[in-house]
Amino acid sequence: MLTSNITRAGNGALLFAGQDVCALADRYGTPLYLMDETRIRENCRMYKDAFRTAFGDAALPLYAGKACAFKQMYRIMAEEGMGVDAVSRGEIHTALAAGFPASNIWFHGDGKTDEDIRYALEQGVGCFVVDGEEELAALDAEAGLCGLRQKILLRVTPGIDPHTYEAVNTGRVDVKFGVPIGTGQALEFVKAALAAEHVELCGLHCHVGSMVFDETVFEDTADLMFAFMLELREKLGYVTGTLNLGGGYGVRYVDADKQTDIPGRIAALAVHMHALAEKTGLPMPVILMEPGRSIVADAGLTVYTVSAVKRIPGFKNHVIVDGGMTDNPRYCLYGSEYTVLHAEKDAGETAVFDLAGRCCESGDILQPAVTLPADIKRGDRVAVCTTGAYNYSMASNYNRLGRPPVVMLREGESYVAVRREGLDTLCALDV
Ligand code: LLP
Repeated sequence: MLTSNITRAGNGALLFAGQDVCALADRYGTPLYLMDETRIRENCRMYKDAFRTAFGDAALPLYAGKACAFKQMYRIMAEEGMGVDAVSRGEIHTALAAGFPASNIWFHGDGKTDEDIRYALEQGVGCFVVDGEEELAALDAEAGLCGLRQKILLRVTPGIDPHTYEAVNTGRVDVKFGVPIGTGQALEFVKAALAAEHVELCGLHCHVGSMVFDETVFEDTADLMFAFMLELREKLGYVTGTLNLGGGYGVRYVDADKQTDIPGRIAALAVHMHALAEKTGLPMPVILMEPGRSIVADAGLTVYTVSAVKRIPGFKNHVIVDGGMTDNPRYCLYGSEYTVLHAEKDAGETAVFDLAGRCCESGDILQPAVTLPADIKRGDRVAVCTTGAYNYSMASNYNRLGRPPVVMLREGESYVAVRREGLDTLCALDV
């Protein structure tokens, strides 16, 4: 199977984290996001152990909440000793509401408003990742008013192509994030931060992209960052204390995708960076990274019930389910591939179908050309694998569909972590 937490029982029934997917669908209804809590924790521990071994005790992985954020997720992150990358007041609020410590939150984002800045300062967020000079000035002023000296990292753009899809390519010089090194603007940015009275410059941040499989991307990024750090020391006498290399390790959505050996990649990156430190004579900075997808993707599985099967002889077949682009917009947005399984059986004659959603537009496709039992029918259950990242967090209410609940699976038990958005809450904000 695609991931070790997806198996089949002797009778062919699909199991996720050892639990019967159809029985869970009966109990909680569909569409349904299932999340394997054990796998989330295993992924956190994998990062924490790899970090400690590779970079020492001060190094910390920060979970990128944009991948999937709700209170229980932040409780798990607190228990696992992870830091958190938040990009909005909403993410910060959710983390704090779950009891996550503000001091372990890094506040990102290229469009922070004055209200965002004030809110994060008031809440005592540990570190801002400042995206540009206007934000720096606004933060400096606001921190001054609060009588604070706020810890910051500066987001810079190293100018690297991580060979991923356009929507998540953030390393190139001309992207909207951060301040480019290549144009000389990042040097000015650092100068401005050093001159600002109410911020404490702790180091640098970069994030070059998501779904990165290319094995040298982080090493190449480290080369550029160390070159810039050397320039900073030579020109400004500034020694970078912390280097945050962002997130991005790719995960397997289909059998053809490579499995990323994350501990192996981190170990190799550390060897490379220690060599850079030695070569440049710079002290090794405290290393942070911000994995999102690789913490939660393989912990998720979405279950649907088939509403209709349309066979158009000589053309194509459609299986239409009770969810769609509202709970998983990733195929519509990026053409992302997914593995689709029939939840009751995996044997027998098969046929090829487009797995379509229930939204009123023909582009509402969850996955084209998937192989399912030829006799699939209304009422059958279908599962889409590896939906833990960027599904719930990107879900919408289009067509006034309610977002599915998130049900967590742990040691043979299940519990609701996010309730289904029902008709009772749908008009809650309407006046
Ligand atoms: N740090 C920063 C600054 C980021 O922008 C991101 C992702 C991450 C960390 C986490 O990256 P990850 O480890 O998850 O690759 N909606 C897209 C993904 C957008 C990623 C945005 N930034 C998708 O569904 O593929």
